[in-house]
This record gives sequence, structure tokens and C-alpha cells, in this order.
Amino acid sequence: MKLWPRTLGVQLIVVTAVAVFLSNAVVAMWFELGNERLSENELTERMLDRAASVTTLMSSIPPKARATATEALGGRLWLFRIKTGKDAVLPMTPEEAALAARLKAMLPAKHAKLPVSVHFREWKDDDGRSRSPAATAIEMTLPVVRNTQLVATFIRPPGPPWPAEIVIAAVVAIIVASAAGAYIARRVARPLSKLADAASLAARGETAPHVPEVGPDDVRNAARAFNAMTDQVSRTLDSQRQLLSAVGHDLRTPITAMRINLEFVDDTELRDGLLKNLDELQELTEAVLSAARGAGGESSRQIDLSSLVESICADLDDLGEPVVWNGHAPAPLHCRANEVRRAVRNLIENAVAYGKKAEVSIQEVHGAYEIVVDDEGPGIPPEDRTRVFEPFVRLEGSRNEETGGTGLGLTQVKTIAEGHGGKVLLEDRPGGGLRARLSLPRQPAQRFAKETP
Ligand SMILES: Nc1ncnc2c1ncn2[C@@H]1O[C@H](COP(=O)(O)OP(=O)(O)OP(=O)(O)O)[C@@H](O)[C@H]1O
Ligand SMILES: [Mg+2]
Repeated sequence: MKLWPRTLGVQLIVVTAVAVFLSNAVVAMWFELGNERLSENELTERMLDRAASVTTLMSSIPPKARATATEALGGRLWLFRIKTGKDAVLPMTPEEAALAARLKAMLPAKHAKLPVSVHFREWKDDDGRSRSPAATAIEMTLPVVRNTQLVATFIRPPGPPWPAEIVIAAVVAIIVASAAGAYIARRVARPLSKLADAASLAARGETAPHVPEVGPDDVRNAARAFNAMTDQVSRTLDSQRQLLSAVGHDLRTPITAMRINLEFVDDTELRDGLLKNLDELQELTEAVLSAARGAGGESSRQIDLSSLVESICADLDDLGEPVVWNGHAPAPLHCRANEVRRAVRNLIENAVAYGKKAEVSIQEVHGAYEIVVDDEGPGIPPEDRTRVFEPFVRLEGSRNEETGGTGLGLTQVKTIAEGHGGKVLLEDRPGGGLRARLSLPRQPAQRFAKETP
């Protein structure tokens, strides 16, 4: 349903307000109806009694005195008049007939044969206008003597309006209950939405922050479980990184030893072949190490990002790679320059290797520089755009090609970007190909600056 609010807070407030309103209304009606019925009965009894006694009085005084007497007896609520002529009875509703019967029983027995009638009608003032709120009149026609009737009209004031106290009490109850609902909702909804935020950060592959373990038990347990989970995940990642680092490190020594031993191999062809393999092995080891380290012992300094990117492009261009640099005004940035160089280089090399050519530019977006690397290749399907950042992941197709990568390039780019408080995004380039955006904040947040003393 469209009207039904979706957030827990609003739902809780609406439900409490409606519930309180309904319960108030039911209780109020119960009391009111009870009171009304009591006073109604009493009122009717007194009204009938008065009409009957005035009739008795009329029949006991001389006919001449009757007109004056009726006038004297009338008042704000009563009107009496004498009607002479044939005793006529208009048709009555069952309710009116019941009252007429009660009235008849109050009259002296000698009048038992004569008709008594009761009629309800709306009361109109002398000028013919209805009162507001509408008043009802009960017109009772009673026999004085044969062919002389007393018409007694009782003007019933309208029932009391809905008492203000009840309305005020209901409003206060609704406000108090809604405030209580809002308080509970806040206690539940706040931590829940923090949890949702943290979980979606984690889903995007970022480090999820610890969420506060507050609120009611159920919510607190969820937060606690979530924190335990993120701890576990980061421990796993850490040990993975340590493993990589240990492997990379321990491979260095045997590689150096083999390199020395190779000097004693006489067969030059064999030696050159093995040396080439060793070089590859060494490169792989270095890549593993720097991926594991992420930020590797370099300290930050002020550089011009624009000339750094330009020099990478120029180097690759010199090597005959299809790289286009779009140029940009000086872009001063405080960063670990070698890391940034490695990251940008990885992106450009990917563009060249998998996307035919690289077109590199720098954009300034709020508070950050974005190095944009476009290519004209097949791109990366959206479902693989998270996976390619994991170590050793190479997509189908690249494995078989002669590109010979290790699948660590993007892992490094991501580690470096995050080490600078930035991020790397892969998306479709308008017009085909992949667009990689490496964004580096101009002022790295303190907690990201992993400087070594
Ligand atoms: N510009 C691109 N266009 C299409 N696919 C790409 C692009 N860049 C990366 N990929 C895919 O992502 C995979 C991972 O890239 P990554 O840079 O991490 O590793 P690599 O290039 O295979 O090896 P390395 O960079 O370590 O030498 C690549 O193997 C390739 O399949
Ligand atoms: Mg690569």
C-alpha cells in the first residue's frame, strides 16, 4: 500500500496514535452513553409527571381561569395552551405511543376513555427559525374534560456537547503515546540504519566500521554479531596478506642464491633461459610483496600529480605503447609518489594490454583529483568489477592471452588508493571500453596517512 509509511519510526508512531485514539474513543463513548441513558430516563419521568399534574390542575379549576393559568405555568422549557374542539389523535410512532401510554397511566381514571397523544418535532422559535444546535420539542396532548385538551409542549435542550475534557485527554494521550513510540523507534531504527550502512560498505568491498552496540537486546545482538563478523573478515584478510608477504619474502633468498649459482652454468643458452625465468620469478615475487604491503615504507611528500602522470605516459609512449595524455594544469598533491606512480601505471598498462589503447586525463572533483584511464577494449562485465580487485584474479580470456600478467595489478591499485583515503572505480566508458577512475583526496584524512617514521 502506497500510503503506509515504510520506516519503522513512522509506522510505530502511526500505530500507537491510532490505537490510543481508538481506545480513548471507545472508553469515552461507553461513559457518555451510560450517563445519557440515565439522565434521559429521569428527564422523561419528570416531564411526563409535570404534564400529568398540570392536566389534573386544569380539570379542577373553572374553565374561565384556564387560559390565565396556562400562561402562568409556562416557562422557558414549557408551553401550555388549551385547545377546544373534537378530541383528535394524530398517528404516532411506536416510541411516541409508548410515551402516550405511560402518560395515560398517570392521569385520573375518569379520563381513561379520552385520547392522549405525544409527538416529537423540531423546535422552532417564534420567528420560525430552528435553534442551533437543534432543539426538539415534545408535544403532549392531554384531556382536561371532553372536547377540551391541554397541549403541553416541552422544549428539550440539546444534549451537552462532547465534553472538552474528553477531547483534551485524548489529544494528550495521543501526543504522549506517539512521543513514546518515536523514542522506541529511534532506539531501534538508529542502530539498525547504522548497521545497514556498515553492511552496505562491507558489500562494496570496503572496510566496514564497528557499529555501536546500543539499543534493545535484539538490536544490540545484531550489532554485536555484525562486529564479530567484520573482525573475522579483517582477520582473514590480514592473515592472507601476511601469508602473501611471507611467501614473497622467503622466495627472495632462494632466487638470489639461484642467480649466483647460475654463474657456474657453462651452457650460455641454458643459463640465459634460466636467468630469464628467474627474472620473471623475481618480478612476481616483488609484485606479491608490494600487493601484500600496499603502502610500503614510503613517506608522503608534495608532488605535482599532473607531471607525474605525464611522465608515466611519456615513458610508455617511448616504449611504443599507444598512450594518449590529455594534459592538465599543475595538480599539487601530498602523497606517496612511488605508490601513486605504480597505481597509475598499472591502470594504463591494463588499458593497453586489454583495451588496445589508453587515454589518460585528470579531473578535479569535490576535494579530490581523479585520474581517468579510458580504453577501447571489451571492458569488464559489472558482475566482475569487484572480483578483479582480489589478488590473482584474471578474467577468462586474459589467462589464455599472451599478456602474461599475475592478477595483482588491480589489487595494488586498490590498496594504494585506499591507503591514500581514496578509491578506484571501474565503469563503462561512454562509447565502449572500460573507464577506470582512481580518485585521490587532495587532503588525505589523517587516519589514512600510513606514514612510517
Ligand atoms: N582495461 C581492462 N579491460 C578489460 N579487462 C581488464 C582491464 N583491466 C583489467 N582487466 C581484467 O582484470 C584482470 C585483473 O587485472 P590486474 O591488473 O589485476 O591483473 P593483470 O593485468 O592480469 O596482471 P598484473 O597487472 O598483475 O600484471 C585482468 O586479467 C583482465 O582480465
Ligand atoms: Mg594489470
